[in-house]
Amino acid sequence: MKFLRFSDICASGQAAGKRVFIRADLNVPQDDDGNITEDTRIRASLPAIQLALDAGAAVMVTSHLGRPTEGEFKPEDSLAPVAQRLGELLGREVPLVSNWVDGGFDVAPGQLVLLENCRLNVGEKKNKPELAAKLGKLCDIFVHDAFGTAHRAEGTTYGIAETAPIACAGPLLAAEMDALTQALLEPKRPLVAIVGGSKVSTKLSILKTLASKVDQLIVGGG
Ligand code: 3PG
Repeated sequence: MKFLRFSDICASGQAAGKRVFIRADLNVPQDDDGNITEDTRIRASLPAIQLALDAGAAVMVTSHLGRPTEGEFKPEDSLAPVAQRLGELLGREVPLVSNWVDGGFDVAPGQLVLLENCRLNVGEKKNKPELAAKLGKLCDIFVHDAFGTAHRAEGTTYGIAETAPIACAGPLLAAEMDALTQALLEPKRPLVAIVGGSKVSTKLSILKTLASKVDQLIVGGG
């Protein structure tokens, strides 16, 4: 499948000095005290972030964490533990920016900030056009690298892709799309798809598409 890749943009020097907005999926499990119990998703997001930093971009990263109520900040919904872990993994401080939708924060080329839980922003879930317009103004390049939540048409996964000057796929999303393309275009048969997750009801369209391509479809989850 052909699509614009962030790695190609970086290789051509187009990201240097640019404001790059990365939508990652940093929705990690936490214990009752908010400690991260498993950080695979944070580690999986490092290549996109490193690519942007190495390219000399001013880097903003955001993610959802859980399903907070929009406009109602609660400490347990904060990405603060993620900022801390990200900082440990990258060996640098990662400032966490709150209330970022209207801008008003500084991030220079070579710097990285984490933007607080994007699902706190009013209009994120329903992808309201007013929010999407503001998101697009924050960046020169939008990088979608949130494979785990790519099936949701929300402000930071969909709306911003329509309003940002350039929208492309980060390395994690690109690798998944390459793997899916390979598996679905010329698969060895019989082809079996196993779909898990707790929210099968929100995956009906993808199940329908898969059902027409595979020999057997196994559905788990709720
Ligand atoms: C997940 O953990 O399944 C993803 O991060 C998506 O989360 P969501 O189902 O709350 O959109």
